[in-house]
Amino acid sequence: MELNLVEEEELAPWRSPLARAINKNQSLTYARYLQLATVTPEGQPTNRTIVFRGFLWQTNQLKFITDSRSQKVEEIEKNAWSEICWYFPKTREQFRLKGKLTLVKADNPHPKLTKVRQTTWQEISDNARQQFTWPHPGKSKVEASAFKLAPPDRANPLFNFYLLLLDPTKVEHLELREEAKNRWLYQIDIYRTWTTQEINP
Ligand SMILES: Cc1cc2nc3c(=O)[nH]c(=O)nc-3n(C[C@H](O)[C@H](O)[C@H](O)COP(=O)(O)O)c2cc1C
Repeated sequence: MELNLVEEEELAPWRSPLARAINKNQSLTYARYLQLATVTPEGQPTNRTIVFRGFLWQTNQLKFITDSRSQKVEEIEKNAWSEICWYFPKTREQFRLKGKLTLVKADNPHPKLTKVRQTTWQEISDNARQQFTWPHPGKSKVEASAFKLAPPDRANPLFNFYLLLLDPTKVEHLELREEAKNRWLYQIDIYRTWTTQEINP
């Protein structure tokens, strides 16, 4: 899977409106939940809720985490294209970010990314870490005791802990407040230069 590995890049023009929305909605825990859509090998859309885990360094890439055993991983390995849809209730804004996903596993060849995978594991809550010890997601339900394994090592990620990076190439921002009804389209060209276009809401 290709990855644009730079630790610092020119921040995209949608980065500050998105950062502002995150900031203004930070009192709402659920404003960090968003929907991530992928495509099944049959070409069908599928989506689910995930948690935003910050940006990768000073780049435009968004960080998420997931379980290697989850269905989405199989889909992403076949087709990295994805779109997230993120609604901010307090400011009544929607962001849609389309781009390719990268899965960062234990054997990632870039030591800096392996480090990010490790620090992200260290930063998540005990509850979030515990979920990676649970039985295989999506399989037939097993007895409750199987969900009560000892807490995993806090320092080192479990093998099935994957970092997920979204590198957006098209972003749409919609504002629907009473006093501000706006919509912007941001697109990246082959030279990785962003264009901004104001469009009708
Ligand atoms: C509030 C909330 C937050 C969630 N956060 C994540 C997350 O960060 N990563 C993740 O893989 N799944 C998360 N899930 C579970 C997913 O929505 C989904 O059920 C799971 O990842 C399996 O999806 P899949 O079968 O399409 O892979 C969350 C669910 C909820 C309700």
